[in-house]
Amino acid sequence: MRTYLITGGTDGMGRGLGLLFLARGDRVIAVASGEAKGKAFLEAAERIGAGDRAQFWRADLSTVAGMKSVASRAVERLDRLDGLVFAAQRFRPEREVTEDGVEYTFAVTYLNRHVLAHDLAGLLERAEAPVIFSLSGSGGLPGKIFWDDPTFARGRYTGMRAAMQASRSVDLDAADFARRHPDSKIRYVLYNPMFVKTAMADPLKQPMKGVTKVMEVLFAQRVEQAVPPMARLMDDPPREALSAFRRGKPLPVDGEDFDPERADRLRALTERLLAEARG
Ligand SMILES: NC(=O)c1ccc[n+]([C@@H]2O[C@H](COP(=O)([O-])OP(=O)(O)OC[C@H]3O[C@@H](n4cnc5c(N)ncnc54)[C@H](OP(=O)(O)O)[C@@H]3O)[C@@H](O)[C@H]2O)c1
Repeated sequence: MRTYLITGGTDGMGRGLGLLFLARGDRVIAVASGEAKGKAFLEAAERIGAGDRAQFWRADLSTVAGMKSVASRAVERLDRLDGLVFAAQRFRPEREVTEDGVEYTFAVTYLNRHVLAHDLAGLLERAEAPVIFSLSGSGGLPGKIFWDDPTFARGRYTGMRAAMQASRSVDLDAADFARRHPDSKIRYVLYNPMFVKTAMADPLKQPMKGVTKVMEVLFAQRVEQAVPPMARLMDDPPREALSAFRRGKPLPVDGEDFDPERADRLRALTERLLAEARG
């Protein structure tokens, strides 16, 4: 029986992957911030006869305390981890700064991935063929990191700019992780699912919300269609320490989005933010 920890495991693709793993006999821990969706996930697990293999850990992954609580709970309670799936997200139309002084989207989309990947690397190493599977925007819309103003304290905030900054950071951080664990068994897979009908549009304001919901009906994949190829990739990832995909299409992992110097710069920024968060 394999064990998977899935951030954002109570909705959308994280939930879909979790239920797929449960249905085939694996153990799944879904991490998310809302009690109601967590309860619904456990009920869904119960309905497929997997109630005893499903857990819901409530944590706010926008805060460093929430990230660290998940990491320490996993280290205390698990003997190994076969898969770590990153699927937490929440779009923020308005600028918001967390209790740690970090821009919200940056924290929910990027920072917790950095913290959990590093804090859980030891647990992953104990599995036979461990995988970090990060749902990402790789090879998708362009975006930039606002190195001198990552919280948009001075520059103009838009939800899209924040989402794209986080997305570029996710790619760079994955490249950095692979580089810093050269002898590791862990395979780090970035996977851009393209357009999938999930809870993604819920936080949008009208009329964007209505437009996106209509687009979803017309063009998006359903979660049930989107997740089986992801599970296959997790079961049989490429041999390389780092790989990236846009749906089934492999992407090159060089160029600006994976550049080592930019990755070093992000790491320095991240370490500063984490040090400031700890006070
Ligand atoms: N959907 C798409 O078309 C698409 C396209 C490209 C990439 N992606 C990526 O795919 C991943 C999954 O997206 P999705 O659309 O399936 O997501 P979703 O349906 O919006 O679900 C998001 C999940 O994240 C959790 N979450 C939100 N805020 C959180 C917080 N502060 N702490 C902990 N958990 C939190 C949510 O639960 P709570 O709200 O209860 O916390 C929920 O379980 C994301 O990384 C996204 O960027 C999606």
